[in-house]
Amino acid sequence: MKERRSENWWQSVVVYQIYPRSFQDSNGDGIGDIKGIIKRLDYLKKLGIEAIWLSPVYKSPNADNGYDISDYEDIMTEFGTMQDMDKLIKAAKKLNIKIIMDLVVNHTSDEHRWFVEARKSKTNPYRDYYIWRDPVNSQVPNSLKASFGGSAWKYDEKSGQYYFHLFSEKQPDLNWENSELRNSIWEMMNYWIDKGIGGFRMDVIDLIGKQPDKLVTANGPHLHDYLQEMNANTFGDKDMLTVGETWGATPQNASKYSDPKRHELSMVFQFEHSMLDQETNGEKWDLKRLDVQKLKDVLYKWQTSLKNGWNSLFWNNHDLPRIVSRWGNDSDEYRVKSAKMFAIILHMMKGTPYVYQGEEIGMTNYPVKDISEVDDIESINMYKERIARGYKKEDVIHSINVKGRDNARTPMQWDDKHEAGFTTGDPWLHVNNNYKKINVLSALQDKNSIFYTYQTLINLRKKSKTVVWGDFVEIKDVPKNVFAYERKDDEHRYLVIANFDREKNSIQLPQYGIQENFIVSNYNEMSVDLTNYTLKPYESFVVQIN
Ligand code: GLC
Ligand code: CA
Repeated sequence: MKERRSENWWQSVVVYQIYPRSFQDSNGDGIGDIKGIIKRLDYLKKLGIEAIWLSPVYKSPNADNGYDISDYEDIMTEFGTMQDMDKLIKAAKKLNIKIIMDLVVNHTSDEHRWFVEARKSKTNPYRDYYIWRDPVNSQVPNSLKASFGGSAWKYDEKSGQYYFHLFSEKQPDLNWENSELRNSIWEMMNYWIDKGIGGFRMDVIDLIGKQPDKLVTANGPHLHDYLQEMNANTFGDKDMLTVGETWGATPQNASKYSDPKRHELSMVFQFEHSMLDQETNGEKWDLKRLDVQKLKDVLYKWQTSLKNGWNSLFWNNHDLPRIVSRWGNDSDEYRVKSAKMFAIILHMMKGTPYVYQGEEIGMTNYPVKDISEVDDIESINMYKERIARGYKKEDVIHSINVKGRDNARTPMQWDDKHEAGFTTGDPWLHVNNNYKKINVLSALQDKNSIFYTYQTLINLRKKSKTVVWGDFVEIKDVPKNVFAYERKDDEHRYLVIANFDREKNSIQLPQYGIQENFIVSNYNEMSVDLTNYTLKPYESFVVQIN
């Protein structure tokens, strides 16, 4: 047997992301909460997950649904109390589930005490926790733009200076060059570590090394120094899962973040695959058709080029549209088949898989007709900006329906009762109309549901070192819309085939002959002759070869 480099718990688990606002309401106010999550832990246990990434639950005025934190050591009033949070950590631990906290430290809310202080005067001790610049020719300091529209600079009347914000103006960026700020962050992280959490997901972490005067935002020169300092001062000796959100990651710098010898993070989320359906040089709203060959090229490249690092695997999160609607097929005919295809392709790859709430039952996008139905700040700001620039309303709404973040944020569909069992009151965001058909209860009752495909794949990963550690080997000479690869080590070989297509595709793989040892499949075939086999729409399976 080959020697294994180092085995960490976070390399063999599957992580489930919870967006608390939309997961489960426990008191009828229409907003998901921590007590609601506790109630559903048994469900997550049944699915087989061993860690939860919890989107922010901290105190927040909710300009960006919790990604604008006003107190890192307190809980959002609607979500509950710190006692509830402690209970959640404990209850999860009993089930062998670790809680991964969302660490949002590129910016705070403008209502955070630090910023309230900083704003008071130029000499306030917290002033330098943020980034302030004088006007240039009575104008903004430079051309940098904010992700949620407009300039990244906001004028502050009181001091006559601008402060910097890469997201909304209610999210002022922290100044990581200030060592006192960094120490305050370490202190806060240690407060959470002492509570017994399992790690951190780090929001837009590749932006913390920014140098606004040089127009540098992502991958600044001191980014990796800061992460090494963080590691040494917080989780370095704690055996935790740490995952950075890095939109600008390449295999080269992802190896830097996650090479254990460098003492930074466990892994990062890379987004190269998730940007393939947007125009090059455009924004995510500028839509382009997905080329499956490109998707394969990108995913395969990431499978094989992370030298000493570790990969993360995901299709969905709270910022992305639902994968079954986006690149699969959410029609009655093919929703289940294509959702299972995504599960199979992703969960058989090498890396740590992440499942976003509702993905495991094949939840779909929620199309809106009018901007009044939209909650998300990003979509709303983009809508205003594009309408002002003369875009047609239908086109902008179309982009929102394809890419908008609310698609993933509609409430979790638990059953076919009032508001899908999410709340006894009125939900903060509309429940998808298809909840009578697509819900957890009916998924659990159907042996052939998407849920059980996820469960099978998650359990396989627990049992099989080959799935966790084995080599990834691409099988060439298949049609461009077919995924074909092996995972193998000295003990076992798994063959993965997936037809990423609404149409049939034929494969000729005589080297595999007849295969019958199915681990999972979405058409319930008993035997396939791969010498010459015609794959049905979205047909996907895993067979064990030895
Ligand atoms: C990340 C989060 C997103 C948030 C942004 C600003 O991309 O995932 O939801 O709006 O950072 O914090
Ligand atoms: Ca509630």
